[in-house]
Amino acid sequence: MKIIYYKFMAFAVTWLLRLLPRNTPVVYKGINSALVLCEQVALLGFTRVIIITDEFLGSSGILDGVKSTLTENGVKFVVFDGVLPDPTFDQVQAGEAILRTENCQAVIAVGGGSVLDAAKMIAMLHTNPGPLEKFDGIQTCKKPGLPMFAIPTTAGTGSEITLAAIITDPVSHRKIPIADSKMIPGYIALDAEIMKGMPPGITAATGMDALTHAVESYLSKASNESTEIQAKTAIRLIFMYLVKAYHNGNDMRARDAMAMASFYAGAAFGKTSVGYVHGIAHQLGRVCGTPHGNANAMVLPEVLAAYGDCVHARLADLARLVNIGEPGNGDSQLAGQFIQAIVDMRREMSLPLQPKDLKLQDIPGIVDDAISEAGKLYPVPRYMSKDELRCIVNGLLAA
Ligand SMILES: [Fe+2]
Repeated sequence: MKIIYYKFMAFAVTWLLRLLPRNTPVVYKGINSALVLCEQVALLGFTRVIIITDEFLGSSGILDGVKSTLTENGVKFVVFDGVLPDPTFDQVQAGEAILRTENCQAVIAVGGGSVLDAAKMIAMLHTNPGPLEKFDGIQTCKKPGLPMFAIPTTAGTGSEITLAAIITDPVSHRKIPIADSKMIPGYIALDAEIMKGMPPGITAATGMDALTHAVESYLSKASNESTEIQAKTAIRLIFMYLVKAYHNGNDMRARDAMAMASFYAGAAFGKTSVGYVHGIAHQLGRVCGTPHGNANAMVLPEVLAAYGDCVHARLADLARLVNIGEPGNGDSQLAGQFIQAIVDMRREMSLPLQPKDLKLQDIPGIVDDAISEAGKLYPVPRYMSKDELRCIVNGLLAA
């Protein structure tokens, strides 16, 4: 009975994702494109903006170019650097209060996924009165938010191109998913220069998040020709460049490729949603505080292997795409080789295999919530049983 309910929900989500009206953002690419984006802010006539970021970026020199370009072009700005990982309602409200008091006309977000998510919601809250709880769900904002400019500093979440933001309710500690096509930023800069300071561990984790987005999108029952091209582009770039970016953060070609990969993976999963890897990773984040990219990397190969026969042909496509295997190899063999290549990549980048503080007694709750999340929201290639998911999560204790 539950499977029928899940199938109905996946069907509804699939069609909703397909039918949602979306604006196509203007995308600036390449070295110093963040500065070109700031010039665009002035050309569009904005004279007063808020820069949303986090404390580390706010006190580093990364924002210097952004600030000086705005000033040279006659744009006044105020900085809100109060976004923390897994942003909460009160951070969004604090940012919006500054935006309102300072009469800002637009939002510039400079940061990783948490900053971009918070900034999206700050821009929306300004034009759509709260409380924030009421935006839980899909297409819950009546009006467009303030114009938003996104400058991602990590290559992985794809938040710059997705229609969703995850904001945590500080009272219930529940992560509230807010999905509204009006939240997609209007202007995006994919600037490798601004990403080159990213430490190796963050490069690896965020890159594996992007890989998970692309692979789960490719396997999604909601995928179509356009999302398949985006997912394959991302996967090819990640296989070619992620390990290079990890070993040498100043390799600008690798950084540039990863910025593009993250963007294309985000564009793909924004229309297809994800799968069980994210279903489990979100629970590991909630229960153990595992960073999202690390959590995905911990279970991606294991979930792909557990799907079994039903994904062999699709994974074999991906193996051929990244030149793994021999011409005579069958689908099942190629699928296994593709999964092994992800394991090798994970090892090469020394990604952790086990969540800190994962306890045996936490596992039933993690499994139940992962099954429920994936069942209700993700058009997965095959529904897994509780035993199958328990086996994957139990495996983390032995990793
Ligand atoms: Fe993700």
